[in-house]
Amino acid sequence: MSEFVPKDLDRRRFLLEVGSTLAVLPLLSACSIGTVAQADSSILGKLRRNALPIGGEWSGAIEAPTDVSWRTELPVTKDDGERIRIAGTVFASDGKTPSPNTLIYFYHTDKFGIYGRGNEHKHGKYRGWLLTDQKGRYEFSSIRPASYPNSTQSQHIHMTVTTLDKREDWIDSILFEGDRFISARERQESGKRGGFQPIVKLTQGSDGIMTATRDILIS
Ligand SMILES: [Fe+2]
Repeated sequence: MSEFVPKDLDRRRFLLEVGSTLAVLPLLSACSIGTVAQADSSILGKLRRNALPIGGEWSGAIEAPTDVSWRTELPVTKDDGERIRIAGTVFASDGKTPSPNTLIYFYHTDKFGIYGRGNEHKHGKYRGWLLTDQKGRYEFSSIRPASYPNSTQSQHIHMTVTTLDKREDWIDSILFEGDRFISARERQESGKRGGFQPIVKLTQGSDGIMTATRDILIS
């Protein structure tokens, strides 16, 4: 079972290793992604230059589709699991100014705690991208993930954030209040985040979908 979450030290080493690769990314992007037209794509092009290369253990912003939007609905059915929706606003480091044009990549396990199966992407099929709107908003719907099989790992949704002036980096994973596997440390860390808690509380929306808010602070 791959965890796809590097330890801090591993992550730093990884970032150092990709540093030289990133220097040539604009060229690679232009060659591999092809013509990217229109105003939004120009923003996306700049964001891609701050994304980590394809193949990183936990990154994925560079694969954002050209029609990325502030709302993403993953194509799921009842059989996939419990439908959920996460919405929030991304704020600049002052915690007050909304951050538009921020690229979010997210992924999580299926309802059995598994990422990719067979020929699927290693992050599995529950992955998507969001580009915050002018108010810094994003919203996506998917299904609730599960703990890894035979583990006490809390259910979680991984997220990376890429901005026009900051390289793609991962942020605290979304956790779910009520999950018995949330550790004391995770709860302690979450408590330090003020109004930007990664532990979210799902409540039933007017349309029946379990919904939670997760605001993000760019640090
Ligand atoms: Fe994970």
